[in-house]
Amino acid sequence: MLRSLLISLSKAAWARKIVTHWKFARRVVRRFVAGETLEEALEAVRTLNQAGMVATIDHLGENTSSREEAVSAAADVLGILDAIDRHQLRSNVSVKLSQIGLLIDEDLCRENLRSLLLKARETGNFIRIDMEDSNLTSPTIAVYRWAREQGFENVGIVLQSYLYRTEKDIQDLMVYDTRVRLCKGAYKEPASVAFPEKHKVDENFDRLVDQLFTASHKWGLPALSPDGRVPSIPGIATHDQARIEHARTAARMREVDNACFEFQMLYGIRRDLQDQLIADGYTVRIYVPFGTHWYPYFMRRLAERPSNLWFFVSNFFHR
Ligand code: FDA
Repeated sequence: MLRSLLISLSKAAWARKIVTHWKFARRVVRRFVAGETLEEALEAVRTLNQAGMVATIDHLGENTSSREEAVSAAADVLGILDAIDRHQLRSNVSVKLSQIGLLIDEDLCRENLRSLLLKARETGNFIRIDMEDSNLTSPTIAVYRWAREQGFENVGIVLQSYLYRTEKDIQDLMVYDTRVRLCKGAYKEPASVAFPEKHKVDENFDRLVDQLFTASHKWGLPALSPDGRVPSIPGIATHDQARIEHARTAARMREVDNACFEFQMLYGIRRDLQDQLIADGYTVRIYVPFGTHWYPYFMRRLAERPSNLWFFVSNFFHR
């Protein structure tokens, strides 16, 4: 109920206007967002790299509504790829297709993605396509397939265990050595497309992890690149200890080396678990968002965990 309300609010322009004008909100947001500037994101990545983690940088923004904004969002990502290269950071980049024009014109989106993939190729980097709500699942997968058919190998995608279709999507996408980030899914979805019960989302997550390990074997267990940028096939994105335990056991049973899969977590969430996994010898990639368009991302983080909402509310009263 609360989750649904917060996710609905994440799309409401009136709520965005109110929340983004609160100074104290910006303070709370800093727990989940590395900063408003690229320099702050690079600094966060440097710190993570020093702690033995790799990263993926996300310039916050989604549902772009004009061609100019979409082109400008793509240009920003080109700048991020250059900066990662210049500073020799162990990081790739995550992009939402609705940010670079998917909702305006699919050709524009493809052209923007092509320029990102060319730059990523030139700088030895990798682009991860984030997954958005279920209206965009098929178009997002179609653009990913188009990129692979164009000969780009430095691109991966995100799939969500709350969707019934994901098992079939993994099967279909494994005609390529698709690097998949598997997450539970952060949007509000109807029961016609997604499991309404959390335990079913969790069970499906475990099944899909097994499926990814099997697919990775089929492709010869590709390992993380030495510079930490090009990931292995299974990217297991969760802070859920039971899911992580399942993945660790599944990897051991299938003799999958630690370099051949990675755990992924969000900036600022379960840092204790991030450190523990590093200490245990696993690859951990942190999703590092930055920018001024933090509102929908922030609301999704509040929706995931009611205690974050109380933290937010208590900051309101202690302004
Ligand atoms: P779950 O929600 O069950 O939480 C398990 C535990 O993790 C909680 O008990 C708590 O300890 C901790 N936790 C989880 N969320 C927290 C929060 N917000 N604040 C504090 N603690 C929290 N989704 C999507 O739809 N498309 C995408 O492209 C991505 N990309 C992505 C990248 C990466 C690296 C991650 C880790 C996640 C995503 N997600 C995503 C988000 C994902 O779908 C999901 O909403 C969140 O990861 C929360 O789910 P968990 O798997 O952590 O489990």
